[in-house]
Amino acid sequence: MTHLIRQMGHVAFTTPDPEGSARDLAEIVGLKVTDRRDGTVYLSANQRHHEVSFRPGPRAEVLAIGLEAMDAAAVDEVQRRLRSEGIEILDDRPLGPGMERAVRFVAPFGAVFEVHTPVARDQARRHVGPGSRPKRIEHVNLKAPDTLLVRDFLTRLLGMQLSDRTAGDEFLWFRGWDGYHHTVAVFRGEPQLHHYAFDLHALEDLAGIADTLVLKDRALLWGPGRHGAGGNVFTYYVDPDGCVVENSTGMDRIDSDLLYEARTWEISATLADRWINQWGSPPPAGFTDPGLPFAAVR
Ligand SMILES: [Fe+2]
Repeated sequence: MTHLIRQMGHVAFTTPDPEGSARDLAEIVGLKVTDRRDGTVYLSANQRHHEVSFRPGPRAEVLAIGLEAMDAAAVDEVQRRLRSEGIEILDDRPLGPGMERAVRFVAPFGAVFEVHTPVARDQARRHVGPGSRPKRIEHVNLKAPDTLLVRDFLTRLLGMQLSDRTAGDEFLWFRGWDGYHHTVAVFRGEPQLHHYAFDLHALEDLAGIADTLVLKDRALLWGPGRHGAGGNVFTYYVDPDGCVVENSTGMDRIDSDLLYEARTWEISATLADRWINQWGSPPPAGFTDPGLPFAAVR
């Protein structure tokens, strides 16, 4: 098994108010603003130049989901595979600073990805600031009309590994080289980004995020609970642009692609939906409704 994707890269949004969106993420979750260029605000939780960016645009949309490739040769290999499949390439230059090579494209299931060389590690490891200051951006969760098309694309073209699935392939989870249970997850729906997620240091950090939301007259959307697939403790809230943000701690790490076999979770219509919450409380009605469309496929 040859991995081309090392780990989660970044998420790039457009929004009418980049400064407001960046401030919200900084104050609630605790990312730091690392750069501002041409109205775009870049944020990171760690040494990387950026993990999230907000650029000016008429509406809130997703410009790209960034997946960090193993190296430049892996970016080249992805580009070669895309061309051989006749998949439209939007750009072969990185969207933002801090990356040497990138290829941005529309996946056949409607999501826009940017596979890029590692983002420059040019920031201090820790920073002073508000929020719970996570370790890193952790994963994205997409909606796609055909989840089996997603499975084929992510595993065959991008070299990702299937970690878990539900029995009817309603939900699927994929990992990269770093072994975290999922970097990309998908469930059935119109092509949208449902949520992006951060890896926090401790359970206490999730309480801090909930308390901060209350101070802003807002509230969690769901949680806390513990996912079955991934084993992480989670909470969710909705950001000012209408995208869901997950905060997570303790995601399973799969240490051997050779020894691990993807699990299959049964979906039932009861509280015992342990695949989605081991602790039992189901998601609220309409939990899967929010999401942001992809700008390039409008
Ligand atoms: Fe998630």
